[in-house]
Formats: sequence, C-alpha cells, structure tokens
Amino acid sequence: MKENSVKIRNIINRFLYKNIAKPIFFHIDPEKVHDTMIFLGKFLGSNIITRSLTSIFFNYSNKKLEQDILGINFKNPIGLAAGFDKNASIVKILPSVGFGYAEVGSITGESCEGNPKPRLWRLKKSAGLVVYYGLKNDGCAKIAKKLKNEKYTVPIGVSIAKTNSRQTAKKEAGIHDYVKAFSMLKDIGSYITINISCPNAFGGQPFTKAEDLDDLLTEIEKIPCSKPIFLKLTPDLSAKELDALIHVCDNHRIGGFICTNLTKDRTNEEVKKHLKDSNIKMVGGISGRPIKELSIKLIDYIYKKTKRRYIIIGCGGVFSAKDAYEKIKAGASLIQLITGMIFEGPQLISEINQGLVTLLKKDGYKNISQAVGRYNSP
Ligand SMILES: Cc1cc2nc3c(=O)[nH]c(=O)nc-3n(C[C@H](O)[C@H](O)[C@H](O)COP(=O)(O)O)c2cc1C
Repeated sequence: MKENSVKIRNIINRFLYKNIAKPIFFHIDPEKVHDTMIFLGKFLGSNIITRSLTSIFFNYSNKKLEQDILGINFKNPIGLAAGFDKNASIVKILPSVGFGYAEVGSITGESCEGNPKPRLWRLKKSAGLVVYYGLKNDGCAKIAKKLKNEKYTVPIGVSIAKTNSRQTAKKEAGIHDYVKAFSMLKDIGSYITINISCPNAFGGQPFTKAEDLDDLLTEIEKIPCSKPIFLKLTPDLSAKELDALIHVCDNHRIGGFICTNLTKDRTNEEVKKHLKDSNIKMVGGISGRPIKELSIKLIDYIYKKTKRRYIIIGCGGVFSAKDAYEKIKAGASLIQLITGMIFEGPQLISEINQGLVTLLKKDGYKNISQAVGRYNSP
C-alpha cells in the first residue's frame, strides 16, 4: 500500500475508533472489554482470510524499520507488551495488526486465577490504567503444550514470572517456580523475559534485591538455553538498587532490559504530575502516560551506565511516534506498549511505524538502528 493511502486509512480508522468504538468500550467494565478483544483476536487469527483482511486495514511495513538484534530479525520495533495476551491466545493476528513482535504472558509455574475482581480500572483523564490482575494465566504446562508446534511470522517473547501465591513467597520456592516455567517454555518463541517486577503478586518483588536475583539467575542458567534473556524492571528502584542489579546481570547471561513495568509509587512527582483523575483509591500498578517519564529516565540511565552492553526495550506511556522516537533516541532499540493502543485504537501501531519513518527521514537517518541512543551518544 502507498504511503498516502496508509495515512488516509489510518485517519479513517482513528476517527472510527475515537468516535464509535472507544465511547462504547469505555462504558463497559475494562476486563470484559479485554476478554472480548482476546476472543475477537483469536477468531481473526484463526484463518488466512480474516488475517489478510485485518492486514489490509492495519498493517504497514518499511525497510527502514528493520533491525537484527541478538540474532533475531525484527521487521519493525513496535511490540505488544506482556499482560495483554496472557495465555498466548492471539499471537497469530498480531502481525496483521502491524506489530513487529509480541511478548506473551507473564506465564507462571502454576496456573493462577489472579487477584479478586475488580482488578482493572481506566484513568480516563490521565491516559493510564490501574492494573491489579495479579498474574492471571493458565500456567506454564498448559501454555507450553498449546504452543509446542506453533510457527510464528514475527518474533515472540515469552515472559515468565513467579506464581502469585503464598506457596511461592519464600525465596527457594520462588526460584523453583521460575525454573519450572523457564524449563517448560525455553524452546518456545525467540526470547525469554524474566519478569521480576509484577507489582501485584503475593510477597512483593523479592528478586529486585541483588543477592536474590543472583541466586535466581544462577539456577536459571543451569538449564541449557541459547535464546536471549531479558529482565523486566520496575521503575520504582533507587539508583543504588539499580546499580546492584546491573552488577549482578554483568555476571550472568542477560541480553537486555525492559524499561519498564507498572509503577506502584504514587508519591513520585513525575507520576503525580500526570495523575489527573480524582479519587484514585484502587490498589495496583499504574500504566500509560503517568509512567512515560519514569520509563525514559530508566532507559537513559541504563544506556549511559552500561554503554551499549545491553539491548533496551522501552515500555511505558507510548501514545505516538514521537513518544516511541524519544525512547529510541534515549537508547531503546525496541518499543512495547499496551495502554496507548487502548486509548488511541489498534491503528496506533501503524501510525507509530509510519511516523517513525518520517522522523528518521527528517533527522537524516537511513534506518532505525542509526537513531538508537542518539540523545546520549550524538
Ligand atoms: C492489563 C495489563 C496487564 C499487565 N500484565 C503484565 C504481566 O503479566 N507481565 C508484565 O511483565 N507486565 C504486565 N503489564 C505491564 C505492561 O507490560 C507494561 O510494562 C506497562 O503497561 C507499561 O506499558 P504501557 O504504558 O504501554 O501500558 C500489564 C499491563 C497492563 C495494562
């Protein structure tokens, strides 16, 4: 499809989403809408006709967006973040929507119902969500069985986490749970993410403590696996805690960091500045615009500190090509999102990719790799 036709198609899609679909969705319980989208995604991904039609309405490709990272070819840098496709149900439709890759999960050692409902809220004025799902998923055994013989047209990351339960609260039991999920899922997809930053699980985030992370990675590395491993970080770490985690990773086989997961810290000035909804009393982690600056700060810090030793995936508050480009220039090679798509519509993926091509051209870069980290190493 020609660039101008894509632009017009996206304008029409945006208009329809903002004026028809979104007003309806935003009047319905968010978890019900999420479940309905998974059901629809499963159906659209189930056969070549619906996949091709979805592609006509949403896809976009451009050579300038292609990158080879840690041995994986990404056709574009925009991926679906973990937490939307918890049980890897809609992987087949995601490339047609325009995603260059997707991360499924987080998947845990045991199946988990998650926290009691309600557990997902919209912050309409702040362009964010409050998430209290608590790692709801079918568990590693069932999901591994389902995905065993699947072939994918884009890279798939598999996010693993510790089961949200009292039984995994002790360190040894927690490590055992991660190791179980890792062993079962290591042969699926293109990379593995170790999520140590779920804000809503029983017992908190023990593996954000350097010595506990060291023990966890030591056990994980006993299992042979040649795929890249990413670590997903919380934005709520002090510089000292972050330095200690990076130091641990330097002694292990970590290929990169995902910056960032949801924030729990509602006292952070950057977060408070963007919290415009009144009476935000619900428990849970915050996504979207309120965490955009936290994500950029984390990318910036890690990029400068580690001098390109790690690949960075930028995640948090991406609502436009400009938001994505800002993270790329700070040092992110890839981007992930969820909340932007919910507030702006599924055409956002193609809008961002096309917008990135325009921004690259404007800055005189031949491809996306040339822009990575340019704020920090001009
Ligand atoms: C509904 C929902 C569920 C999520 N569940 C997970 C999860 O299971 N694992 C994880 O690593 N991150 C999870 N996240 C965090 C996202 O992957 C992402 O880090 C965060 O939402 C920031 O990106 P965004 O502002 O584009 O939404 C979840 C986010 C949302 C909105």
